[in-house]
Amino acid sequence: MSDPAVPSAWIGTSWKMTKTLAQAREYAQALARVSWAEGLQPFVIPPATAISAVADILPPGGPVLVGAQDAHWEDAGAWTGEVSVPQVKDAGARLLEIGHSERRAHFGETDERVNLKVHAALRHGVLPLVCVGEDAEQRAAGSAVELVSSQVRAALDGVASSTQVLLAYEPVWAIGAGGTPAAPEDIVDVVAAIAEVGGPARPVLYGGSVSLDNAAGLISVPGVTGLFVGRSAWEVEGFTALAEIVAQRST
Ligand code: 13P
Repeated sequence: MSDPAVPSAWIGTSWKMTKTLAQAREYAQALARVSWAEGLQPFVIPPATAISAVADILPPGGPVLVGAQDAHWEDAGAWTGEVSVPQVKDAGARLLEIGHSERRAHFGETDERVNLKVHAALRHGVLPLVCVGEDAEQRAAGSAVELVSSQVRAALDGVASSTQVLLAYEPVWAIGAGGTPAAPEDIVDVVAAIAEVGGPARPVLYGGSVSLDNAAGLISVPGVTGLFVGRSAWEVEGFTALAEIVAQRST
């Protein structure tokens, strides 16, 4: 029998670098009015400026998890421009996104730093959400499974196999305005590899140009237990519509 405290499906969004405080509050207030399907765990990841405002409306321990898009691996210190895990936790975050491809591509995020951040999150009781994924060149070269498996292995180095960590497969070629949406058959092998390397305690989410048109197919891929969405969930109606699709397919 499954443990009712362990979600059977996940739906989440990162707002990336969008939304004012007023927009963030309006979205959070709309989420606070939703009755979520049993077993479905929704999460929302505002920019750092809005974590506290969103968490005031969606407090820790409530049905919607609030996250941070990144945090430093040190707890405090002279790191201008950075925020730490204790700081985002103090603001109300209980989930930490780590290693998104935009951070790997533009901000020097390495596998080693991803691992340090996973340990920092776990030290403070914050759930890590580790993003992995290959770029178009790596896929064309046939090295997607190998590359992504090594990203997962590096992220989880030194983490006990029973410790919950969320893994998100986000192929770089599928993400963002210039991305090509993946078909379910494109992701089957990599999802299976992530599930194998990650182990049974680790839900695997899929992200990259998820939309109302392709969500049902993507959530039906064996091993995918959630969707992680950017643009299609930046309006709250998109988020709730996608949540319904996920709930129907996997709870
Ligand atoms: P899009 O859904 O906008 O492609 O972004 C996906 C993503 O990067 C989620 O983290």
